[in-house]
Amino acid sequence: MCDLIRETHRPPAKCQGYACLPLATAQGDNPLGRFEDKLILITGAAHGQGAQEARQCIQEGAQVFLADIDDETGHRLAASLGPNAHYLHLDVAQEADWAQAMAAIARLGPLYGLVNNAAIYRPQPLLDTSPAAFDLHVQVNLRGSFLGLQYGARAMTRCGGGSIVNISSTAGLRASPGSFAYSATKWGLRGMTLSAAASLAAHGIRVNAVYPGPIDTDMLKIKSAHALAERVKRVPLARLGTCDEVAAAVLFLLSADSAYMTGAELTVDGGATL
Ligand SMILES: NC(=O)c1ccc[n+]([C@@H]2O[C@H](COP(=O)([O-])OP(=O)(O)OC[C@H]3O[C@@H](n4cnc5c(N)ncnc54)[C@H](O)[C@@H]3O)[C@@H](O)[C@H]2O)c1
Repeated sequence: MCDLIRETHRPPAKCQGYACLPLATAQGDNPLGRFEDKLILITGAAHGQGAQEARQCIQEGAQVFLADIDDETGHRLAASLGPNAHYLHLDVAQEADWAQAMAAIARLGPLYGLVNNAAIYRPQPLLDTSPAAFDLHVQVNLRGSFLGLQYGARAMTRCGGGSIVNISSTAGLRASPGSFAYSATKWGLRGMTLSAAASLAAHGIRVNAVYPGPIDTDMLKIKSAHALAERVKRVPLARLGTCDEVAAAVLFLLSADSAYMTGAELTVDGGATL
């Protein structure tokens, strides 16, 4: 074996917390699942992709904090998912909500994973975007993820590391003239992901991003049937994606299966960005 190959197989010199768990903890070697007894916070988890990610993390042994502003649906969903699901009211744009959420989680143990998933989507082209609509996207999609990165990373730093997954969009990888403000915030999230990955690696915290294409959730209900059909025509796999297809990528990035990945950008878009 050449030196280079030997080098990449060498185990970490010192433990950097959860981010360096050996691959033996991956699902194949652990019948209990990849997240047994680990605490994971998912924002925007009352609906759509966040709800499915919560479901699958619980199936793999995690204690999941489902956070949202739709308290009624969030409480109902958490109750249906069993004792390892905990609902938290968390408006991601509000710093005080983050402080309360982190205090609640700390009472149960160290935070292992965070999915910055909550976002709003009110598609309008540049010339129709009001400053108020632009600001609202920035508050929820960008400030919300910034606060998540900061509060999540502080909690994980105290606990020896962790894994953060930011949910961007293909609108954060290319021009999206029909959704100007949304696209601006998803591009911003791309920059935050890369900068956070670089600055948090020394703390044993990995930061990666998922870029979904059109996914079959309530978010797309704002589009007409015609607009949706036109959108699907631009997807090489010729269909909408599903929440469990995005969840598979998110759980991979949360887990020790991706222990040597940080700053990675995974598209789950049926080839829409090809
Ligand atoms: N559905 C798609 O086609 C698509 C495509 C690309 C990216 N995405 C991204 O995927 C993520 C999940 O979206 P989805 O498709 O599940 O949409 P969704 O509308 O079903 O879910 C969004 C969730 O975020 C919550 N939310 C909204 N504002 C919030 C706030 N201020 N604080 C906390 N929660 C808030 C909503 O209540 C809802 O539960 C988002 O980041 C979205 O931008 C979605």
